[in-house]
Amino acid sequence: MTDKQENDFTMSHINFNQLDPAIEKRVTDLMAQMTLDEKIGQMSQLFLGKEVTPTIDLSRIREGRAGSVLTMYGAADLNVLQKAAVEESRLGIPLLFGNDVIHGYRTIFPIPLAEACSWDMDLIEESARIASEEAAADGTHWIFAPMVDTCREPRWGRIAEGSGEDPFLGSEIGRARVRGFQSDSHASGKKVVSCPKHFAAYGFSEAGKDYNSVDISEQTLRDMVLPPFQATFDEGAGTIMSAFNDLNGVPATGNRRLLRTILRDEMGFNGIVLSDWNAIGELVPHGFAADNRHAGLRAIHAGVDMDMTTDAYEDYLADQIANGEVPVEYVDDAVRRILRIKFMLGLFEDPYTVERDHSDIFLTPAYRETALEMTRKSMVLLKNEGVLPLAKTTTKIALIGPLANDHHEILGTWFRIGEDGDTESVLDGLRQVVPDAEIALAEGCHLYEDSENVVAAATIAAEADVAILVLGEGEFMSGEAHCRADISLPGHQQLLLEAVHATGTPVVVVLMGGRPITIPWMDDNVPAILMAWHGGIRTGRAVADLLFGNATPSGKLPVSWPRSVGQIPIYYNYKNTGRPSDGDGTYQFNKVHYSNYQDESNAPQYPFGYGLSYTQFSYSELVIENARPSLNETLTVRVTITNTGDVAGDEIAQLYVRDLVGEVTRPVRELKGFQTVSLAPGASETIQFEVPVQSLGFTGIDGTYLVEPGQFDLWVGGDSSAALKSSFEVTA
Ligand code: BGC
Repeated sequence: MTDKQENDFTMSHINFNQLDPAIEKRVTDLMAQMTLDEKIGQMSQLFLGKEVTPTIDLSRIREGRAGSVLTMYGAADLNVLQKAAVEESRLGIPLLFGNDVIHGYRTIFPIPLAEACSWDMDLIEESARIASEEAAADGTHWIFAPMVDTCREPRWGRIAEGSGEDPFLGSEIGRARVRGFQSDSHASGKKVVSCPKHFAAYGFSEAGKDYNSVDISEQTLRDMVLPPFQATFDEGAGTIMSAFNDLNGVPATGNRRLLRTILRDEMGFNGIVLSDWNAIGELVPHGFAADNRHAGLRAIHAGVDMDMTTDAYEDYLADQIANGEVPVEYVDDAVRRILRIKFMLGLFEDPYTVERDHSDIFLTPAYRETALEMTRKSMVLLKNEGVLPLAKTTTKIALIGPLANDHHEILGTWFRIGEDGDTESVLDGLRQVVPDAEIALAEGCHLYEDSENVVAAATIAAEADVAILVLGEGEFMSGEAHCRADISLPGHQQLLLEAVHATGTPVVVVLMGGRPITIPWMDDNVPAILMAWHGGIRTGRAVADLLFGNATPSGKLPVSWPRSVGQIPIYYNYKNTGRPSDGDGTYQFNKVHYSNYQDESNAPQYPFGYGLSYTQFSYSELVIENARPSLNETLTVRVTITNTGDVAGDEIAQLYVRDLVGEVTRPVRELKGFQTVSLAPGASETIQFEVPVQSLGFTGIDGTYLVEPGQFDLWVGGDSSAALKSSFEVTA
């Protein structure tokens, strides 16, 4: 049975890029009645606090000088605002309510980076659909996600919010999330528009510092950064958020080439461009604008339709139009796009949200089940030397670590209205799965402060059959503005790990965090490591199911996992250099004058695409059916996968290519396909990949997409270091 059959969440979704002549006419008619001030008002997104208070100022809404409000939750409060717009403003244009719903609204799912490890598009879509369903029922129209920023930088806290380092996988996941968010089957009958972000290249923030400069080549921009955005537009995403960062010297939010030439003209995007939070105002400290007036001028010329919180349009745009600095068409185009989305969402017919009890929509038993399935599939078994799965007959368990009985950090970086009380800690999960085991619990040390009680932890470990250590980061250590220069275990956790290990009791580490954590000692010394990320409400149960074999791990990394910070940026699709190392961990002293370090291997701790199972898979009979395809043909590749172990398992098979000679240098490998197979012990399956030759191209010297005839290598296997190889030649 394939994942597709198993999940069976086939839904349809709204494509906000398909224009409807009837809606266009309504927009035209409405715009004909609007004053310039009312039009400019539509271009402002306001922050009015997190809830309606007695002193809230609704005057701008009543005057028709607001198009949208962000970061307020809940039908009751949002209806107060909507009433001011619909019943008290001159034209009654409804507000758009935007919110960050990143990995769940009430049912909190694993962080996006963790979900990416499932490589399961149907399940990712369903997770997004559930988040959207819950948010919509509570008044949200506009979800500021998916984050599709390609990222090679684990120091950057926001790596947690994306899908990792690969543009092909990132594109598939971006599409799945748009389908889920923009599902047309919400129980409330409400619709939601998604907002892929952050356009563009925010994930390349230098040195992993948030908001930092980005300086990348045209090739990197077009081949690594833009494809996931294009994929979300193709899937029907109706809006986009412009990024904070400057890109090759021009801040994205004031970047006319990026937003008009590339986004509108080349990529064909016709939805709303929303600035990030005060990103227009931040053009001033960037040194790109003298003051907010100038910043607004830069942003409108660049093509930003809606200003999140700066009020530069509100304060200066009318004047700038009056004195000829801004063509009025810029305003008309922006307002048309904004009103179009409001009509498409049905807000003119149905502006309010029903205030009701949500127990049939929030956190339903079915959603909790889906969350459990997602959480199990998001965890990655990094190492296992015969320890896992643990026998259910294990009688004495030492459960140790600052996250062992945690109910909060596991919610992850954007937990919205999720509650600690909704979660299962690892202790809860173990109690469900091995109710007869005797579990001794010790925190061992603080999550990040320099305080510890390792003696007590080592004492219980010494008396146990197995020590399960739950270590890692808190939710506040990743996400926006939560970057780390040192991404090893925080606080005294390494000390705790070594003390417990020294007892001689077999150790299993359950690692949590919003990013890869550097763990060279752990990998050398601990027999079993499960990366659990921040898994959301079902974390504890999923961990217990995996540790005790109720489920078999299948997650695979969407990032290269560094051994040390000095290796960063580290990514599998790197270029070869003129003096390539052999990439297998060679140090410079072994190979002088090659592209190596003196004191570190080139190899990651775990490669992109990697993840273990409780069984093993072998790959054989790699066949390329048409090994001399022409430029417009499709390559057909078959490979046989066999489960050579003792238990059933899912394997995510990955196909990589290398273009051997290019007009610009080519990555050593690029992912071009993946598929999941579920195999019983001893079973084999032959799978087939279809790879369009047109998908094998890249951005040439002149900046345009190019597929060159020539020789390619091809690999299929269980991760980006796959050895089973063949080759083909693209002919002219
Ligand atoms: C973040 C965005 C987010 C916005 C609204 C910004 O600081 O960069 O990702 O959508 O705030 O909350």
